[in-house]
Amino acid sequence: MRKAIRGVLLLWFLCSTILRSCRANNLVCNEKEKQALLSFKHALLDPANQLSSWSIKEDCCGWRGVHCSNVTARVLKLELAEMNLGGEISPALLKLEFLDHLDLSSNDFKGSPIPSFLGSMGSLRYLNLNDARFAGLVPHQLGNLSTLRHLDLGYNSGLYVENLGWISHLAFLKYLSMDSVDLHREVHWLESVSMFPSLSELHLSECKLDSNMTSSLGYDNFTSLTFLDLSENKINQEMPNWLFNLSSLAFLSLSENQFKGQIPESLGHFKYLEYLDLSFNSFHGPIPTSIGNLSSLRELNLYYNRLNGTLPTSMGRLSNLMALALGYDSMTGAISEAHFTTLSKLETVQISETSFFFNVKSNWTPPFQLQFLLISSCKIGPKFPAWLQTQKSLSYLDFSRSGIEDTAPNWFWKFASYIDQIHLSNNRISGDLPQVVLNNTIIDLSSNCFSGRLPRLSPNVVVLNIANNSFSGPISPFMCQKMNGTSKLEVLDISTNALSGEISDCWMHWQSLIHINMGSNNLSGKIPNSMGSLVGLKALSLHNNSFYGDVPSSLENCKVLGLINLSDNKFSGIIPRWIVERTTLMVIHLRSNKFNGIIPPQICQLSSLIVLDFADNNLSGEIPKCLNNFSAMAEGPIRGQYDIWYDALEVKYDYESYMESLVLDIKGRESEYKEILKYVRAIDLSSNNLSGSIPVEIFSLSGLQFLNLSCNHLRGMISAKIGGMEYLESLDLSRNRLSGEIPQSIANLTFLSYLNVSYNNFSGRIPSSTQLQSLDPLSFFGNAELCGAPLTKNCTKDEEPQDTNTDEESREHPEIAWFYIGMGTGFVVGFWGVCGALFFKRAWRHAYFRVLDDMKDRVYVVIALRLKWLQNNLRRYFLDLRCLRGRSEREKVMDGGGT
Ligand SMILES: *[C@@H]1O[C@H](CO)[C@@H](O)[C@H](O)[C@H]1NC(C)=O
Ligand SMILES: *[C@@H]1O[C@H](CO)[C@@H](O)[C@H](O)[C@H]1NC(C)=O
Ligand SMILES: *[C@@H]1O[C@H](CO)[C@@H](O)[C@H](O)[C@H]1NC(C)=O
Ligand SMILES: *[C@@H]1O[C@H](CO)[C@@H](O)[C@H](O)[C@H]1NC(C)=O
Ligand SMILES: *[C@@H]1O[C@H](CO)[C@@H](O)[C@H](O)[C@H]1NC(C)=O
Ligand SMILES: *[C@@H]1O[C@H](CO)[C@@H](O)[C@H](O)[C@H]1NC(C)=O
Ligand SMILES: *[C@@H]1O[C@H](CO)[C@@H](O)[C@H](O)[C@H]1NC(C)=O
Ligand SMILES: *[C@@H]1O[C@H](CO)[C@@H](O)[C@H](O)[C@H]1NC(C)=O
Repeated sequence: MRKAIRGVLLLWFLCSTILRSCRANNLVCNEKEKQALLSFKHALLDPANQLSSWSIKEDCCGWRGVHCSNVTARVLKLELAEMNLGGEISPALLKLEFLDHLDLSSNDFKGSPIPSFLGSMGSLRYLNLNDARFAGLVPHQLGNLSTLRHLDLGYNSGLYVENLGWISHLAFLKYLSMDSVDLHREVHWLESVSMFPSLSELHLSECKLDSNMTSSLGYDNFTSLTFLDLSENKINQEMPNWLFNLSSLAFLSLSENQFKGQIPESLGHFKYLEYLDLSFNSFHGPIPTSIGNLSSLRELNLYYNRLNGTLPTSMGRLSNLMALALGYDSMTGAISEAHFTTLSKLETVQISETSFFFNVKSNWTPPFQLQFLLISSCKIGPKFPAWLQTQKSLSYLDFSRSGIEDTAPNWFWKFASYIDQIHLSNNRISGDLPQVVLNNTIIDLSSNCFSGRLPRLSPNVVVLNIANNSFSGPISPFMCQKMNGTSKLEVLDISTNALSGEISDCWMHWQSLIHINMGSNNLSGKIPNSMGSLVGLKALSLHNNSFYGDVPSSLENCKVLGLINLSDNKFSGIIPRWIVERTTLMVIHLRSNKFNGIIPPQICQLSSLIVLDFADNNLSGEIPKCLNNFSAMAEGPIRGQYDIWYDALEVKYDYESYMESLVLDIKGRESEYKEILKYVRAIDLSSNNLSGSIPVEIFSLSGLQFLNLSCNHLRGMISAKIGGMEYLESLDLSRNRLSGEIPQSIANLTFLSYLNVSYNNFSGRIPSSTQLQSLDPLSFFGNAELCGAPLTKNCTKDEEPQDTNTDEESREHPEIAWFYIGMGTGFVVGFWGVCGALFFKRAWRHAYFRVLDDMKDRVYVVIALRLKWLQNNLRRYFLDLRCLRGRSEREKVMDGGGT
């Protein structure tokens, strides 16, 4: 009986399989559609040969990206995303009369317009042209696609819309993305889309929307909306009332606009809201207590507003909250256990640049297990927080600048060995680490009070920054330590400690090193040859120690070296030939050594050079005449910005970056450059025995900011071409034998705030300009024949000074002119710093979004990117803002580490 049943079943199975395959075999693709697809392919450019399966011999329903109906064999879908396609889109597509789904996203149509015939593809329900580099006017014919459910035109390269009237025909739209499409010509955009009762997702980020558009809406019918992204527009108003009718919202982003006013209590109505991003706006006042009603909320980002008051304890009711970001505001008061009562799902906390302090019991057991904890410059100390021990899943810990003044407790290092990244910089944490084996991918203990011998490292450590502590003892046990595997260390910064002894010949154990900073210790001896085995080395700083001898020629093997800083040692010999031929070099800092010989003219090959400092050596001979070949200096920080690869100065990791720093002697004062180092263009050849004249070629370096040739034996006149150095901020030619008149064109240098031509043989009248007359007379001292303001010596009749244009204010407060001029530079640098960051951020985001198309992931990426952006750039932005407050504050801008 059983056998019989089994037999019947088997027969049935066989029959159905045969039937199915028969049917499939009968269904071959429609010949007319096949020809249409071949014409379509023919007009496309397919450099990666992604459409190789589209061959006339094969059934077109089996071609890559082509999907046919399993009933009629007619083509229903074309899925051609991310195939590097370009060229022309052939109207042959119109022959696919049942095509329902067309995806050409993430291709490269090189700025061509969206073909208007797409509007005649009447059966389309899904059209995705995201990130396909279409440009120009969005064709109004798309309004004919009345059955469209999904329309994505986001992130192309310059699409715009004149009139969105056509969109009102797309009444069944569920998903609309116009991200980065310029909608500013269309005031009624929102009215048009607000008609759609079934619209569920609306993406309008970076559309140049302004307040006139958002406030013109008196009603809204898109009551099914669950996703609304208005980020990165120019909306400058209070949160509009119509928003609060959208009770179904799950995702709301208003970030990076100029929204103002208070965050209304009615916010609490969004009971389905899972993601709320109000960051980078101008909301002021307190966070409404109704925030505790957002019971579905998973992510909350209120970064960078003008919020004040204390954190409402109702936050403690957000039992679904997974990520919280607060900071750069004026909020104050305690953060206590009550704020976290039910927050058992919390994984990410970032609270920085606020005046909060943590006030929790020492035996607090938080309800959450965090993965990311970033609390910088918010007071946690002075005691090391004991509750940290309860966090078993941490992968990222940032307690920098958090007021901890304590010895790191015994449990900490064992606990910490499982954390991927640790940032504890700028506290007063003390302790000895000789028994500790550091095991973190990135560990930054810089600017604390750690002392004793250096810790040991596991092979997992990639970045070790323990600069500016009190570590002492000989360095060689650290250098030559036995390790359980091959070290992955890329960045080693042990600068500004009290380490001593010679650096041993153990560099072959550290083959991954890219950045080494051992500056400002008590190290001595010669550079060992094995350092040349570090073939990936990009930056080497050994400044301010007692090294001596020649620079070993083995370093020639470091083929990608971008920064070499050997200043303030006792190195001697000639400038090594390999240095002046290493064309990857951007920074050469050999100041205050005993180098002799000439400046080899081969140095002119270094077209990426931004800082050249040979000051205070025994160099002789003439300055090479070819310095105009330093093209990074000729172009300057702004024009050259996207052409130059700065990775020798900065290395980026997931959420952090390590930046090289350099102390430069500028305007008679030492300043540390770090965040803005890449924008510096400087030449300092002062205090050598250089002779001859100043080569006129040097004046064509129009991006140069700082030029110091003082204390040499230079002769001759200054060329009038100096007037073309439009970025020159500081010029020191003092203590040479220069003669002739100071060229009038120097008055062109509007950024010039420091000039010293003292102790030369200059003659004639000091050119008149706003700055020059406001300088200290000492800048012109020691030139017997020089006359006119600011010197007291009057010129003779025939060169009687005309009415100088010095305005009253700068005459009364000479420093004011300096300040404004200096501010000009600060502003330029700040502006490019921030805009550069935005540029890169956008590039990341696109790359990420291509990969992650799931809303949840997207939500995460948004937060992750924001965190990263803040981490890397906000502090700098803030510092730049301080330029506006005063000249003395400006020094801190330059002081990379400082706040
Ligand atoms: C045809 O395809 C649809 C999905 O596209 C599927 O649901 C259906 O079961 C298929 N029919 C047959 C007979 O395979
Ligand atoms: C808003 O519209 C008014 C009048 O139409 C106009 O004067 C104003 O400049 C517009 N504002 C913006 C931000 O476009
Ligand atoms: C909004 O929708 C309602 C019902 O769907 C409809 O009666 C009303 O006319 C719509 N309003 C507008 C302005 O479209
Ligand atoms: C918050 O700032 C407003 C001014 O914007 C001020 O009137 C108010 O007193 C401040 N509130 C607190 C608690 O500091
Ligand atoms: C070191 O970290 C790795 C992960 O990076 C972990 O697997 C390992 O257990 C840690 N070792 C110690 C001794 O903590
Ligand atoms: C090295 O590895 C061995 C076994 O793999 C382990 O027992 C030992 O603790 C490790 N040493 C260090 C310093 O990590
Ligand atoms: C100085 O500026 C004036 C006008 O601003 C310009 O005509 C002249 O060429 C400049 N001189 C030099 C040397 O660049
Ligand atoms: C310079 O000239 C001014 C007026 O032009 C006069 O008051 C002053 O006394 C003169 N100074 C000297 C040192 O001759």
